[in-house]
Amino acid sequence: MVIGLLTIASIPTVTGVSFAVTEQRKSNQRKEDARRMVKFNIEAVCEGDTDDDRDVNGRIAVVRNDKVYLDHRDPSQRTIPAFTSLAFYIEYPELEETKHLKRGLGLPTYVSANPPLLNWIYADKDTYELKYGNRTQSVAHVVGPWDWTEDERMITLEEREAFIAVEEEEGQWALYFDRDGDELARTLEEKGLLDNPFVPVRLTRRIVEE
Ligand SMILES: *[C@@H]1O[C@H](CO)[C@@H](O)[C@H](O)[C@H]1NC(C)=O
Repeated sequence: MVIGLLTIASIPTVTGVSFAVTEQRKSNQRKEDARRMVKFNIEAVCEGDTDDDRDVNGRIAVVRNDKVYLDHRDPSQRTIPAFTSLAFYIEYPELEETKHLKRGLGLPTYVSANPPLLNWIYADKDTYELKYGNRTQSVAHVVGPWDWTEDERMITLEEREAFIAVEEEEGQWALYFDRDGDELARTLEEKGLLDNPFVPVRLTRRIVEE
């Protein structure tokens, strides 16, 4: 009898608690989404002390001609005009046939301000160049998971900070993802860029106040 009463009495409480937990979870999710959607510029950090390291250190990611480059912070110093990447994190919108890949967060960036146009940053699955494009152009490539490091300062792709800047032409530093961990040996050989300067870079989030 006592047990019966307790059981009945506990039902509304349990329901109330689980409802509250669900609401709390939703509210936490909304806060997390908002934090992920804070806009940032992407800045290169090169701690080495070669001339190339010093040249690339402090450059920021720009987008032009379907690719992501590291260029001068001041647009007037860029030899080729490019749009400064302004990025954030949001779930990549998988297609029905790619849902099972569970690639999680994508990294959209503005690629023009007027009109405001967003594209996804991705690593080309064959060449490992960082590129940008709409879903149709990006879905077959490495679109994520993008993330931040525990201190939320550095950018990761597939849980690694494996980015390399390659000087494809004089002063033109393109960004690559070292997916195989071989310092791009295969892809640079295929592109005939083995003799070009390259430097490992870390990519940091420079929050842009809105
Ligand atoms: C994606 O981009 C390509 C190339 O710019 C374009 O042809 C295509 O229409 C775009 N697709 C969508 C859905 O916007």
